[in-house]
Amino acid sequence: VWRVAAEAGADVLAGQLAEAAALLHEGELVAFPTETVYGLGADARNTKAVEGIFQAKGRPSDNPLIVHIAEERQLEELVLPYPELARRLMKQLWPGPLTIVLPVRPDAVSPLVTAGLSTVGVRMPDHPAALALIRQSGCPVAAPSANRSGRPSPTLAGHVLEDLDGKISGVVDGGATGVGLESTVIELSDSDTIRILRPGGITAEQLQAAVPEARIDAPSGTKADTAEAPRSPGMKYTHYAPKGDLTIVQGDDPEAVVRYIQEQIDRAAPLNVRTGVLTFDERTDAYHADVVLASGSERHLEQAAHSLYAALRQFDAEGVQLIWAEGCSEEGIGLALMNRLAKAAGHQSVRV
Ligand code: TXA
Ligand code: MG
Repeated sequence: VWRVAAEAGADVLAGQLAEAAALLHEGELVAFPTETVYGLGADARNTKAVEGIFQAKGRPSDNPLIVHIAEERQLEELVLPYPELARRLMKQLWPGPLTIVLPVRPDAVSPLVTAGLSTVGVRMPDHPAALALIRQSGCPVAAPSANRSGRPSPTLAGHVLEDLDGKISGVVDGGATGVGLESTVIELSDSDTIRILRPGGITAEQLQAAVPEARIDAPSGTKADTAEAPRSPGMKYTHYAPKGDLTIVQGDDPEAVVRYIQEQIDRAAPLNVRTGVLTFDERTDAYHADVVLASGSERHLEQAAHSLYAALRQFDAEGVQLIWAEGCSEEGIGLALMNRLAKAAGHQSVRV
């Protein structure tokens, strides 16, 4: 496995990108940065290559993959005619963290990519290295997040290697990803309704602003996947989880939240387990636990989103066994943040 240093000069980066693109073209697996998280890429048309993704990740085969493109021209080869509403969203929000589920053109991608569905999720990532890689490879690139299935998604090249070293051909190192949470996955349930299947980097508010007359059907962050038949197959699995046992604590009064969590920590002390708290900058000093991490300010949830997964991995690195995480508002990026936290916690949460 080689990696491109983020600090490397432009000529080095160009050479490494060319090498990575050639590997993708030959059916190898290459991880690369996007604006959301690192992806594990393979030629979406090559069934053997796509099979490699599922193997490397240990991913259930009924969970379809997102196809990444660099140019609109590539889209026409992948999908059948689609609603005008989708076109308007692409015009305004691509490249960007928005995946649109569209009717797949028969035989355009390996059936493993769509897990047998008649639709395919497509996105154009807003990251220069990702776009250059896709363009140079000449492939539509199937890419799930580049983590072992169930683990927090990688926001650094080092996270990718933690999970997949020895299982992939390379990783393009673009430094830390920006958004830190995955793209928003949507489908168009009719000509004027957008259903959010997975909240993510593009917020419900941004979708509404882009197409003001459309109806946005958004799940609540923590209840996103309680529907009897999950519409986005990936939503039914436990995801993003640290090794420790995680509980979300929510409440309108921050002091009550602090009091409750500290009581739990104090109660765990005689048991000789390592305890951790995931809080916000505003309250890092309020807790006495083995590991207290703040993912950012609760007034700027973009920061918290950016560093959530790194924080979850940090608890693992420090051997923390019991973790309490403060909940936050579900406005803006908070919806995706609470969705990922709830999944990381296996939906263990208390309200105080
Ligand atoms: O930001 C992202 O989206 C990252 C980066 C690498 O682009 N990728 C990512 O992929 O998060 P993955 O495979 O970890 O998540 C894909 C999600 C899953 O929840 C999957 O079920 C859903 O998209 N999905 C993919 N194709 C779908 C389809 N045809 N219909 C419904 N849901 C689909
Ligand atoms: Mg994933």
